[in-house]
Amino acid sequence: MREFLLFLLAVSAASSRSHVNWCELGCDCHGDLRFAICSRAFFTQLPARIPSTTEFLDLSVNRIAIIPEQSFNKNRKLRVLFLQNNNISVVEDGAFLHLEFLQKLDLSRNQISALGKGFSVGLTFLRELQLAHNSLSTLDSTSFMHLDSLQRLNLSGNNIRTIQLRSFASMSSLRHLHLEGNRLTSLNSGIFSMLRSLEVLNLAGNHINETQVGVFKPLTSMTLLNLAHNRLTGIYFKTFLSIHTYSTHILLEGNPWNCDCDLQRVFRKLRSIQRLFLDDYSNLTCGNPAILRNYRLTQVDTELCIAETVTVLIITVTVVITVLAAMLMGERKRKKKKKRKHWTQQGELSDESDY
Ligand SMILES: *[C@@H]1O[C@H](CO)[C@@H](O)[C@H](O)[C@H]1NC(C)=O
Ligand SMILES: *[C@@H]1O[C@H](CO)[C@@H](O)[C@H](O)[C@H]1NC(C)=O
Ligand SMILES: *[C@@H]1O[C@H](CO)[C@@H](O)[C@H](O)[C@H]1NC(C)=O
Repeated sequence: MREFLLFLLAVSAASSRSHVNWCELGCDCHGDLRFAICSRAFFTQLPARIPSTTEFLDLSVNRIAIIPEQSFNKNRKLRVLFLQNNNISVVEDGAFLHLEFLQKLDLSRNQISALGKGFSVGLTFLRELQLAHNSLSTLDSTSFMHLDSLQRLNLSGNNIRTIQLRSFASMSSLRHLHLEGNRLTSLNSGIFSMLRSLEVLNLAGNHINETQVGVFKPLTSMTLLNLAHNRLTGIYFKTFLSIHTYSTHILLEGNPWNCDCDLQRVFRKLRSIQRLFLDDYSNLTCGNPAILRNYRLTQVDTELCIAETVTVLIITVTVVITVLAAMLMGERKRKKKKKRKHWTQQGELSDESDY
């Protein structure tokens, strides 16, 4: 009966374009109820009667605060769900249960500070998840457990400090991971371990000062690694050597590099690796020592090892001089001895001639 009614409504919706009977005040419904655009409708909660035929639902720019469990269990045909720019602070476990066709979910610009372990239940076929500009501080190992098909994850502009091991463990299809503008300080090996399809890893604008040697090793499809505007003072050659890809572009500008001979050596070696491209190398600047602050690494890099070269030179010269001196002394002694011998021999001769 209900389906039949909806069918009738659908027919009427097709004939009268804009506000149809069922369409909640503030919504604009099109295309046989497949599109419901309810943006800027001053909703403080989810509308009660979203038709089951809706595939595209735009609820952006409202004041919705809570997404209760099973909110969309009558909307199983949803493909795109926009909830950005609301006031959402609570997403209950199982909120998106049964959304087997959902491909894109936008929850960006809300107040979400935590995701429960049931957050991703029912989102097995989701391709794109936008969670930028929320208040997440930790990525829990269970929150994203069911996102097997996810290709794009945008977590930029949160307060993420901690990424638990296995947070991304379900995401073997993920291609783009955006973590820029968070508060990460270190990257521990293992956090990216299942991301073998990942092409773009954006970590710009964090507080990263340490990267464990094996952290990028599992990322065998990575084409772009953005580490710009962090707090890196140095890097281990092995961290980047372990990136086994066909070709990877790496961005490193805006870090306070400690410009010394070690750094110069690491970069010289890195730049000689054919598959790695340090695109912004010419923009890297020194943070330390104070005398070199804000100088470009390319301006000073030929001089960074000079002090060391000079030391080596001094040592070499000293050694050479010592050796030479020793040899000369030896030679002199030998000559003296010879002379003395000569004289004594002559003396003996003259003694003889005295007779
Ligand atoms: C946002 O939600 C909080 C409760 O989570 C509420 O106190 C506040 O008034 C809401 N703000 C707006 C603008 O609706
Ligand atoms: C991530 O989300 C922010 C905020 O919505 C947006 O400005 C940015 O373009 C998004 N990035 C990607 C790659 O989707
Ligand atoms: C270097 O910095 C300049 C100025 O900030 C910018 O325009 C340019 O794109 C940067 N170059 C690279 C290779 O990133």
